[in-house]
Amino acid sequence: MTNIAVLASGRGSNFRALCMAQRKDGLSGGKIRVLITDKAEAGAIETAGEFGIETVVMPPKDFPSREKHDEAVVKTLEERSIGLVCLAGYMRILSPAFISRFPGRIINIHPALLPSFPGLHGPKQAFEYGVKISGATVHFANEGCDTGEVIIQAAVPVEEGDTEGSLAARILEAEHRLYPQAVRLFCENRLKIEGRRVSILPPSTQGAGKT
Ligand code: GRF
Repeated sequence: MTNIAVLASGRGSNFRALCMAQRKDGLSGGKIRVLITDKAEAGAIETAGEFGIETVVMPPKDFPSREKHDEAVVKTLEERSIGLVCLAGYMRILSPAFISRFPGRIINIHPALLPSFPGLHGPKQAFEYGVKISGATVHFANEGCDTGEVIIQAAVPVEEGDTEGSLAARILEAEHRLYPQAVRLFCENRLKIEGRRVSILPPSTQGAGKT
């Protein structure tokens, strides 16, 4: 059984998608134990209440440095024996100390087909660039911004007549399907990291973790 934490800063639609997936079909033994947010006004907080999930609000201004804030987040995770950290619109880059405490156990979702269009406003970047296919990526987190190993991706074609907003909305829908899939694969121990490549093992084969 994998204890899951979700870290979110904003509206929390991916957090909601994970909660709904857990309620509907389960997360392959994974259980969302806590929502951690750096923003007292995050929409995700209301969702956590709705699904009966513990919420911990940790505004950075309450801490003297980024490192101290991350330390407190790590402590919160360790106290709950968290085995998987899901970043879902968490608007902070994690410190190397944080990352090293959860090797191969922090994943993130990004609204573009990485390595294209990392950083903020992925759908806007893709739309303005004029690509014909964009999408969403779930990847392991590392010290960079959206640079960790790719786990799974979903393609979203750009249609004639699309606006930035309509493309962003379809990408978000794809995210909501993709993130629970990735969490299930992780909880089934089916992700094997070899260098930059992540293999998806067949069901019931034991993953060997990071090599
Ligand atoms: C999503 O587009 C996610 O890919 C990105 O931040 C956004 C968060 O949206 N990392 P939400 O808060 O989950 O609705």
